[in-house]
Amino acid sequence: MCGIIGTIGYPDAADALLQGLRRLEYRGYDSAGIALQKDAGFAVRRAVGKLNALAGVMHESPLHGTTGIGHTRWATHGEVNLANAHPMMSGDRVAVVHNGIIENHRILRDTLTAKGYQFQSQTDTEVLAHLFADALDHAPSLMAATEVVIAQIEGAYAFAVMAADYPDQLAIARQASPLAIGLSDDAMFVGSDAIAMGDVTQRVMFLKDGDYGVLSRQDVAIKDAKGQIANRDVTIVAANPGLVTKEGYHHFMEKEIHEQPDTVMHTLGAFTDADGAFALPQEVNFADMTGLAYLAAGTSYIAGLIGRYWMEELADLPVVTEIASEFRYRHPSYRQISLAMGISQSGESLDTLMALRYMADKGVDTAALVNVETSTMAREASGYLLTRAGPEIGVASTKSYMAQLTVLLVLATVAGHQRGILSDKRRLEIEQMLARVPRLIGEAMAATSAIKQIVPRLAQARSCLYLGRGTLYPVAMEGALKLKELSYIHAEAYASGEMKHGPIALIEDGLPVVALLTDDEHLLKSISNVLEAKARGADVIIIATESAAQKARDEIGGLNGNIITVPDCDALIAPMVLSLPIQCLAYMTAVHKGTDVDQPRNLAKSVTVE
Ligand code: F6R
Repeated sequence: MCGIIGTIGYPDAADALLQGLRRLEYRGYDSAGIALQKDAGFAVRRAVGKLNALAGVMHESPLHGTTGIGHTRWATHGEVNLANAHPMMSGDRVAVVHNGIIENHRILRDTLTAKGYQFQSQTDTEVLAHLFADALDHAPSLMAATEVVIAQIEGAYAFAVMAADYPDQLAIARQASPLAIGLSDDAMFVGSDAIAMGDVTQRVMFLKDGDYGVLSRQDVAIKDAKGQIANRDVTIVAANPGLVTKEGYHHFMEKEIHEQPDTVMHTLGAFTDADGAFALPQEVNFADMTGLAYLAAGTSYIAGLIGRYWMEELADLPVVTEIASEFRYRHPSYRQISLAMGISQSGESLDTLMALRYMADKGVDTAALVNVETSTMAREASGYLLTRAGPEIGVASTKSYMAQLTVLLVLATVAGHQRGILSDKRRLEIEQMLARVPRLIGEAMAATSAIKQIVPRLAQARSCLYLGRGTLYPVAMEGALKLKELSYIHAEAYASGEMKHGPIALIEDGLPVVALLTDDEHLLKSISNVLEAKARGADVIIIATESAAQKARDEIGGLNGNIITVPDCDALIAPMVLSLPIQCLAYMTAVHKGTDVDQPRNLAKSVTVE
């Protein structure tokens, strides 16, 4: 992952780079650094930890100049320490910031060491710095040196390079990792995305895979993967809304949880016509489809699992929902798949992007369901659908997941109607049902008072199980994922019916078991599964709609305060409504434990490495 930024010609480069890094911190926050051109070399500042640490260093020891590069790191090669923080240097000749993984870095490191280059870090990136220094000894220009370097490296990369020999230029390249150029009247910028440059320009040029080139203050020279001069369009991106603030909430995640009613409303608004009927922004012919693939990672994958239940139930259209990082490597059968849809908040997750490219190579139509319109997936897929969650800053996905669910239910309904499975009446019912979701999830926030009682106990647990059936099984997965990533408590989800096939052996006195229930066809079976866990000593916590909770009280007994309820709703939309308390449970447990909720350890918001 990592975020990179660079500028040539900006009067206060240090400030522009630091602001750019603030916007890129979602890509990683293990360490950060900035290098500026200075005399015949560079001035460098680095710090381990979040960006504020670097800001502190720069406050103590300011940098002045008009040309520089910056980096915020998510560690891949080498531990998190100062030596491994970018920019990486080759003496005072070259400074590099890089996002991605140079896969053949070991061989290159050996070759460069044999030539006398000394390595200061464990990173793959340092190889790039020395490769540039080596190439610059012979190459007649920075562009030529860049060509020499990229011919030697394998893997995924986006980089920006300063060379002391060419103080008025920056070398750049991208392969599988995103990179954009920002143009203004008297300065040039480069960044991992357009948002990074939002303070300084709206004129952005998105590079394609294999592109490389050289920037100067007023000029951009780009070549494509074949070495031919490439002209990339300049896009005017939407005015930057400015840095998003917490607006009085303790954490971005808390704010984003509370924004979910609005998120569903905005997203629905974009998928509804003037009469209130679901309408897609682009024509999609579901009637002739033989199968769909939802490809995604993490929480987006979980949204895709719920989307699969909906699409198969409402539209009788077979769906495979696959973890993107597995999909393309298992040589999947794709002949029945009419459309492969990548589901991704960022639109940049490399695993999902690669899975989509795999399907496009096989001749399958591709689409992207993304929250960032300028993202690589939106630009590369044949079509895209936009969730309207707005910027999501908390690393753990909440409102963008809810927006994905909204669109996936709309898609299933539209598909079901097109395919003649849903009558006009049923379609109308679902439209009305989804229109009630913002109110229902707003009301579900009231569950936090019950959650408060449970949190101190859960926070003590070393391990925890989540159970659900039907669409509530993926919701259980989401509950477990959120608890793991935010509070570092081990948590697993199981389909309730699967417990007796093995996992029930895990149950011992006091093990928290969070069971999700709604008033659907599975309810009595799910309650039996809870009883089985309780009989073996589990500390059962029920998260349920009102009426399902009542049945659980009647059947199970002895639950005391261990029931978190949300308003009654149709089982179809229960995964949306019940997602709210599972997010709050994880959030409040993490706050109780004092973990870094918005930036949990080892994570990054956008995962652009495999
Ligand atoms: C978990 C979470 C991650 C992301 C995953 C995919 O809370 O946020 O699991 O869902 O990294 O990211 P996108 O949706 O940007 O492709």
